[in-house]
Amino acid sequence: MPSLKIDIRTSTSGSPDLVTFFTKGSPLPAGVPASEFDGAPCSTLLLRDKNQRTLVVGLGEKNKIEPDILRRAAGAAIKHLLKVGSSEIALDLAAHADHVGPAVEGAILASYKFEGFGKPAGKEKRGVLARLQVLVRENELIRARVQARDAEIIATICNTIRAIGNLPGNMLTPAILADKAQELAQGRALTVKVWNERHLKRDGFGGILAVGQGSVNPPRLIVLEYHGGAKRETPIALVGKAVTFDTGGISIKPGAAMDEMKWDKMGGLAVLGMMLAAADLKLPLNLIGLIPSAENMPGPDAYRPGDIITTRDGKTIEVLNTDAEGRIILADAIAHARLTYKPSAILEYSTLTGAVVMALGHQRAGMFTAELKLRDAFAAAGKATGELVWPLPVDEEYKEGAQSEIATVKNTGPREGSACVSASFVKTWAEETPFVHFDIAGTAWTTKPPAHLEGGATGFGVRLTLAALRAGLPV
Ligand code: BES
Ligand code: MN
Ligand code: ZN
Repeated sequence: MPSLKIDIRTSTSGSPDLVTFFTKGSPLPAGVPASEFDGAPCSTLLLRDKNQRTLVVGLGEKNKIEPDILRRAAGAAIKHLLKVGSSEIALDLAAHADHVGPAVEGAILASYKFEGFGKPAGKEKRGVLARLQVLVRENELIRARVQARDAEIIATICNTIRAIGNLPGNMLTPAILADKAQELAQGRALTVKVWNERHLKRDGFGGILAVGQGSVNPPRLIVLEYHGGAKRETPIALVGKAVTFDTGGISIKPGAAMDEMKWDKMGGLAVLGMMLAAADLKLPLNLIGLIPSAENMPGPDAYRPGDIITTRDGKTIEVLNTDAEGRIILADAIAHARLTYKPSAILEYSTLTGAVVMALGHQRAGMFTAELKLRDAFAAAGKATGELVWPLPVDEEYKEGAQSEIATVKNTGPREGSACVSASFVKTWAEETPFVHFDIAGTAWTTKPPAHLEGGATGFGVRLTLAALRAGLPV
């Protein structure tokens, strides 16, 4: 990605294109008839002067302004200006100094576009954002610089993992993902360990091995460690599902939209993003990131319905449907987190069920936890970041759906309540450790992007979790 230079200033330098934010009811810029611009959130109007372009962007009602309004409006502005060829842009935030962080975040997120591979060049010449100026009053400069720097760190990392997320299954196998994690950790205060098949076998990761055994691209477990807190402080474990492609295996999926299953790795990539950002932000805590990765394929070596799998901690799984593979690789990773690190909490991210998409659509991720304080912390972080979550139950009564006659649990039950049953399945491996499961199946990628994003991987979970961690997780 080309490097972006960000300046926080009191006035523009050079001749960038200027973005001004507009709230309903305030006076329109000279020469703009009221019929042309009503100031609705993310609406844009381009004004051309001789040598400067000004883009007016709506924020809606003044009393309804919140972080996500600025994030999206800044995103809409950047997308509009890049489309008309801008590369140097100034955001006038003099009246919105409280929202420098979200605005810079929205601007950087909006500057990423998935370019595809060797597709014929289109007519439009899209600009590349090379310089972003943020204008605030003199007395806000210091605070704005801190906000902008943190937003830049987080949004840049989100774009990195979105770009990896958009790679198809043939270009991103578990081994390639592990290589990328290692490359990205280089030069950062992170350690990375990668388990290959031999190591997975040695240490009893029967779930990851079973799901991966049908593919010529062997599975991996990627473990990242970050020590930003006191030596003896217990870490928080972050676990993310990274199925690099999910065909369903022997219980194969129907063909329609199966290509979308290249995004079945986004939970794992979110965890990678969180770990990279934690290191760059120098968060004062200890974190462990665990990313079990496999490709779920049918074939002569594939695991099958009826198989019994023994996971990392000795619990067993009766496989009834090879398409319910995410929970199987997560079982191993969650057990490993618990046994090896005794974390104060386990936070787990996965594109786990179609059922959660039916329940919550693409607007919110399902959040399954019995910990009320954690639930409230993530609800607040969701509001601050625009990565919205909604609580769903993982109570005892859902355990029944995963009860097996011949193993600790079975991997599928009745369709009714299956998002909750899956949550209770993965929670089994956390035992007594405080646990939150985020089902991001509806939010990990988008075909109807909001103003600050493009179609494709969204990076959902990274900004949410960093906000919650930075506010101090109640564990
Ligand atoms: N990766 C899918 C879940 C998914 C489906 C994510 C659609 C995003 C969009 C997961 O591995 C899966 O196949 N789940 C099945 C489970 C079923 C077989 C019990 C599902 O939800 O249909
Ligand atoms: Mn599946
Ligand atoms: Zn899957």
